Amino acid sequence: MSAPLLSTHGLQAFYGDFQALFGIDFEVAAGEVVALIGANGAGKSTLLNAIMGAIRVAPDMVRLDGAPTGGAAPHVMVAKGVGIVPEGRRLFTGMSVEDNLRVAIDHSAGGNDAWTLERVYALFPILKDKRRDLVQSLSGGQQQMVAVARALLNQPRVLLCDEISLGLAPKVINEIYAAIPSISDAGTAIVLVEQDVGLAKKASDRLYCMLEGKVTLTGKSADVSREDISAAYFGAGHAVA
Ligand SMILES: Nc1ncnc2c1ncn2[C@@H]1O[C@H](COP(=O)(O)OP(=O)(O)O)[C@@H](O)[C@H]1O
Ligand SMILES: [Mg+2]
Repeated sequence: MSAPLLSTHGLQAFYGDFQALFGIDFEVAAGEVVALIGANGAGKSTLLNAIMGAIRVAPDMVRLDGAPTGGAAPHVMVAKGVGIVPEGRRLFTGMSVEDNLRVAIDHSAGGNDAWTLERVYALFPILKDKRRDLVQSLSGGQQQMVAVARALLNQPRVLLCDEISLGLAPKVINEIYAAIPSISDAGTAIVLVEQDVGLAKKASDRLYCMLEGKVTLTGKSADVSREDISAAYFGAGHAVA
């Protein structure tokens, strides 16, 4: 396999005195889709936020193209090509769909302009129909599409998605997940934090399972069994049938 685009090395993260991550080794290659699963509180969002620089970590614990980036600020990471669809979306709900997207264009790294308004509208046609509507008038699923589109307009080389299916109806989850292959086919690596194990397995090339701040399982998504995932997800002795 080619060298990883983004990787973490023995990554530890703290909230004050509380240690949330204990030596995470994680990697994703260009064009790869990697799922990150685990129960509530396992440390999935903390890992994404540590990669993004929203939580301070040592320089060598995060590398992009092999170069240390740990501790760089979030806007620096975005400029370097690491995009995030954050938990809770964080959109400007009192602004129109298109104005939300234009904010991302205005703040994009420049140079690489592979993702345009036209292309994100082709990916999510409903957003084109609703481009003049206020984000707050959209359904949860449509708002999530805006969040994904906004992240793409930053021209990410790797896109970190934090529970984009949370609270959405199956039909709209399918619509959003249907966009994943088109994004990765364009060469963008994708990290999917997902609580729905079946969905995560189906959508990804590889997966990592986390439990209590540690990686408890990693492998090709097609190869890992439900039993292995169950044990890694809940801990030894707590496996459910
Ligand atoms: N801002 C914070 N301050 C203190 N502890 C936090 C904070 N955010 C998360 N934690 C704790 O860190 C651990 C990992 O949380 P998180 O990364 O949000 O898990 P996940 O995304 O897998 O649900 C949990 O024990 C959680 O309570
Ligand atoms: Mg989380």
